[in-house]
Order: sequence, then structure tokens, then C-alpha cells
Amino acid sequence: MPVDVLIPETDLHDRVRELGREVARDYAGKPLTIVAVLTGSLIALADLIRAVDVPHRIGLVHASSYRGASTTSSTLVINEALAPDVADRDVLLLDDILDTGQTLAALVDHLAVRGARSVKTAVLLRKIGRQTTPIEPDYCGFTIPDAFVVGYGLDYDDDYRHLPFVGILKD
Ligand code: IMP
Ligand code: MG
Repeated sequence: MPVDVLIPETDLHDRVRELGREVARDYAGKPLTIVAVLTGSLIALADLIRAVDVPHRIGLVHASSYRGASTTSSTLVINEALAPDVADRDVLLLDDILDTGQTLAALVDHLAVRGARSVKTAVLLRKIGRQTTPIEPDYCGFTIPDAFVVGYGLDYDDDYRHLPFVGILKD
């Protein structure tokens, strides 16, 4: 399927590095753990942490949502086997895209229950007009229109993650 470039590679790198510098400034001297939501945020994680110039740890969390016939309700299943130890850590939860907001909101609660000292959120992309769960990301790379996007970690049916840019998938 054809993909139209929405955010070019250089813009992604520039913006992610900028976010990294902001994170470094905000978390200097704090026990920071950046927890990335698999699999979509892997590339953003790799680029972000190299711009976070203060000591920090990384963790990974895997969450899958099973949506029923109605897209408004879904159950989020968190893979406990991977769960990083976040007790007394200042956690920055990183996801690829804020769509309805359900994934991020549920993971924030989950990390708080697991003893994080604080939990903030960062998303590479935020889709306009899709949010059903109120959550304001603390760091946001780009706001994008309501279209299905792939690349730079984001997939369609597990394909397209390797594209160096973010593009709109044309059906
Ligand atoms: P939310 O719980 O609805 O906010 O869902 C967020 C998750 O849905 C993201 O972590 C992505 O895995 C997936 N997602 C939502 N929109 C897109 C898209 O346009 N492209 C690829 N994945 C998407
Ligand atoms: Mg995802």
C-alpha cells in the first residue's frame, strides 16, 4: 500500500532531540526511568534517550488492547513478565501515539500502583479529535490529523515499522 510522507526523517530527529533536552532539564538529579510501550515506541526510545543527557534507566512494557465490536470499549492486557521495577523511580512513560488515550491512561495507573514516585507521559504523536479518555501528555512531539499513520516504529498489522519517516497509509 502506498505511504505519503507526513513527517520527514529530519523533522522527527530534530523534535525528538528537542524533547530529550527538555526531559534532561526536567529530570536532572532525579531517579528517572523511561518506560517505553512496546513495540511502537522502540525507535522513538532509541533516539530520545541519546538526547537525555542525565543518568537514567530504561524499561519496557507490553500492553495489548483487545477491542470488541464497539471501538469505545476495550480491555488492556499488560504483560507482567516484562514489567520493570519502578518502585521509588520517577517514571516517564513513552508511547508512539496518543489515539483514544486508553492505553496511556491505564498504564499510568498501573505504574503508580507498582510504586513509582511520579509518572509523566510522553508521546511522539497525538491524533486530533480521537481522544475518549482525558489525559494530557506532558511531552508531545507532533500533533497530527486523524489519519492512520505508519513508520518510525508505528505499524499496520506489524508492517511498516522500519520506515524512517512517519507517513499516512493510503488504502
Ligand atoms: P489508544 O489506547 O487508543 O490511545 O491507542 C494507542 C495505540 O493504538 C498506540 O500505541 C498504537 O499502537 C495504536 N495506534 C493508534 N493509532 C494508530 C495509527 O495511526 N497508526 C499505528 N498505530 C496506531
Ligand atoms: Mg502501540
